[in-house]
Amino acid sequence: MIKGHKAAGQRMAAAEQAQKEGLLKVLPEQRPLFHLTPPTGWMNDPNGFSFYKGRFHLFFQYNPYSTHWDTMHWGHAVSDDLLQWEYLPVALAPDDPYDEMGCFSGCAVGLPDGKMMLMYTSLRYIGDPVRKDAPGFMDSTQIVQTQSAAVGDGITFEKYENNPVIPETVLPEDISRHDFRDPKILCLRDGTYLAVAAAKGLDGYGQILMFRSRDGFSWEYWKPLIRNYGCFGKMWECPDFFELDGKWVLIISPMEMLPVEGRYPNGYGCMALIGDFDESSGTFAVQKDQPLDCGIDFYAAQTLLSPDGRRIMVGWMQNWSTLAMHRDDLPWAGQMSLPRELFFKGDVLCQRPAAELAQRHVDEVHYKSVPVSSGEVSLYGVSGRMIDLDLEVCTVPGTPLYRWFSIRFAQNEIHSTRVFFFPLEGMVRLDRSNSGSRQAVVHERVCSIGPSPDGRIRMRIILDRFSAEVFLNDGEYVMSAVIYTDLSADKVSFLAEGRTILNVKKRSIRGR
Ligand code: FRU
Repeated sequence: MIKGHKAAGQRMAAAEQAQKEGLLKVLPEQRPLFHLTPPTGWMNDPNGFSFYKGRFHLFFQYNPYSTHWDTMHWGHAVSDDLLQWEYLPVALAPDDPYDEMGCFSGCAVGLPDGKMMLMYTSLRYIGDPVRKDAPGFMDSTQIVQTQSAAVGDGITFEKYENNPVIPETVLPEDISRHDFRDPKILCLRDGTYLAVAAAKGLDGYGQILMFRSRDGFSWEYWKPLIRNYGCFGKMWECPDFFELDGKWVLIISPMEMLPVEGRYPNGYGCMALIGDFDESSGTFAVQKDQPLDCGIDFYAAQTLLSPDGRRIMVGWMQNWSTLAMHRDDLPWAGQMSLPRELFFKGDVLCQRPAAELAQRHVDEVHYKSVPVSSGEVSLYGVSGRMIDLDLEVCTVPGTPLYRWFSIRFAQNEIHSTRVFFFPLEGMVRLDRSNSGSRQAVVHERVCSIGPSPDGRIRMRIILDRFSAEVFLNDGEYVMSAVIYTDLSADKVSFLAEGRTILNVKKRSIRGR
């Protein structure tokens, strides 16, 4: 029924060539071990995160020509275990008049005929033709955003002949044609497809719009799922919408946030709106909002449902506000977060590293009841830059509550990344100001986890060469940050003001 319309164009061929050449220039040790990075050049948002024909697929926003954002392609990688990724050919290139300014974010679904469909945002130019080709030119007022489809076998894809499948002409009048993007498709109980997409109202604020389809190609506009009204930032990007343990979760990435009740810092963030959704009326009753990552680098998260029923989320471990953090001597820029399983503890949406990580654990070391106070403590066998660390801290029984506890990692004489816990205030502080960056971007974030009268806290910290992901109290809160500290800085140490007791379990993480 669905015909592709032409062979891959020039930009696809050029991108393939750049990818092949670029791959030869990167040594495996110059990348994280189990976090996805682009083959070469630049990566942002996860796209089309899905399970198809027995493997996990992760596409991404991709510029294979430089370590900076530019006209977007879709890169593509597959994995059996969410940790070891194999690069596939470039999946989408901006080769057509309706997407010549870029193939922006979107999703992937398996079709009933066994094919895989990608739905992505296509950017069409409507301005002065002379200005269009200026290097790096991207004036959003001269670009219209629509949604397009491509169909393939999980490796190569052909764009649909009637693209775009959701043109700007179907949008309600109060929606900007320049900001309408990032479709994510889900299957409703009645077998129809629902697509949620981000859009900007003419009031300047984000909305999430819903579209319905029976076959994935012919779509009709339904209604807004939710509007921002200025509560969380301005435009919203990259929605994902799914049911988990009887609740509905909408993930959004608001741009240009002002702090809200101390839980959302300024800038770009990623959060969840949690509530009930009525599939027949399309009504979403939000009961709760929650940040998805309280660290520095996490944005544009997307989820999939694994064959064994886990809802797994991956985010771009970077942030539009902190791009200057990148180290120029690395031929890749941007990395994905660890795939994280989502689950509810009461009404709190929690995260834990995908269970597959346990298969990579080696060299386990345990320490029980280690006293930590004002002298720095390092423990034999507890070090490294590819490690999974479990910590349990509490006050020495019968002594006053300690003032703070800290762990330092990626440490040498000059550098260290630090996590502090202040039990009285119930506050965790992540500080990477001494982690290899020469730029004055944000290096510190705090996260309120609630006071701990006995000083108890559990932390799980995953390091993978150029990043740290900190899971607090079994994933109730997560703080992520990229670091570029020289890889020889691999010491881990502990320090406290007051008297604490520490249990530690360290596992190194091996490659395959
Ligand atoms: C989010 C985003 C998306 C867009 C893509 C472009 O990071 O701005 O809204 O589709 O990146 O690369």
